[in-house]
Amino acid sequence: MALNVSPLTLGTSGLGRNTEPGSSEEEAAVGIAVDLLTSTHAFVDTSNNYSAGRSEAVLGLAIARIGEDAATRVLSKVDCDSETGAFDRERVLRSFDETCARLGVDRLPLLHLHDPYTVTFDEAMGTGGAVEALIELRESGRVDNIGVAAGPAPLMARYVATGVFDAVLIHNRFTLVDQSAAPVFADARERGMTVFNAAPFGAGILVTGPREGAEYGYRPAPPDLQEWVGRVERVCASNGVSLPAVALHYSLRSPLVDSTIVGVSSPGRRAQLDELAATPIPEEVWSEIEAVGPAPSPVDDSAYA
Ligand SMILES: NC(=O)c1ccc[n+]([C@@H]2O[C@H](COP(=O)([O-])OP(=O)(O)OC[C@H]3O[C@@H](n4cnc5c(N)ncnc54)[C@H](OP(=O)(O)O)[C@@H]3O)[C@@H](O)[C@H]2O)c1
Repeated sequence: MALNVSPLTLGTSGLGRNTEPGSSEEEAAVGIAVDLLTSTHAFVDTSNNYSAGRSEAVLGLAIARIGEDAATRVLSKVDCDSETGAFDRERVLRSFDETCARLGVDRLPLLHLHDPYTVTFDEAMGTGGAVEALIELRESGRVDNIGVAAGPAPLMARYVATGVFDAVLIHNRFTLVDQSAAPVFADARERGMTVFNAAPFGAGILVTGPREGAEYGYRPAPPDLQEWVGRVERVCASNGVSLPAVALHYSLRSPLVDSTIVGVSSPGRRAQLDELAATPIPEEVWSEIEAVGPAPSPVDDSAYA
């Protein structure tokens, strides 16, 4: 069944982080989850291991509060065993059961293979491997679509080329700073897959701008990147738009991307995101950013080539 995505998907990797069941912090997180699940955006993206399972648990509490229909708006992912790293057929089925129990559902529109770094590509694809279980879940009708979600473009290219997945999600590799996912997205589009581009802000510096401690792709941004982002921020300012608005629209305007996933786990973020998405970006911004020259991307996926 095709996924009817909207241009934005709401990411919840930080939702419920460090909350105790029954605490006031949990209650605040459930409030955010209710807001996400009742927004105009089609889907909320989570995973078995986000916030050590608390992201799914908080979404489950929100679903219980607002009604089962909301459950059709949650996309999740299977993760390896956090203690042993096991990521085989058995672990995938267990991971899916854990997800269903937390969310209070028995089926999902999309289930991704998430960050398959503890097994080789051949192990994941082989008999008794993780992908075999995902295919079984799709065949049994418990999930409508299966996907693969991770970072390194060379690894993702191999998974996409198998032809077994309905969707692909790549993070931090299709932004103002790094475009290494572009050929993988193009291949996925040709295969009729749904393309999710996650983390258009590089999870940091493209929303904060250059500053002490700014990160790109969950690592400290090196000085040359800080300097480049500063130059781009000045281009944005001279055109009367903000850096995060431009960073977001870089993904939203791309014909390679079906849906852009932004992390929105704190109060008010979803409304701010809607404002950024509604901001008109003057066409000149793109050529002026191009004139700044290519970004010194800190992403190094050579280990996966
Ligand atoms: N392997 C994978 O499958 C994978 C990997 C990475 C990401 N993802 C998915 O993609 C989502 C997005 O990734 P991400 O959250 O790491 O990176 P991101 O979307 O590039 O950046 C999120 C950061 O931007 C901030 N932010 C969001 N909207 C903002 C706004 N309007 N104004 C100011 N700040 C804003 C958030 O702050 P607050 O935290 O304060 O709200 C958060 O710190 C994740 O939540 C997850 O669902 C999947």
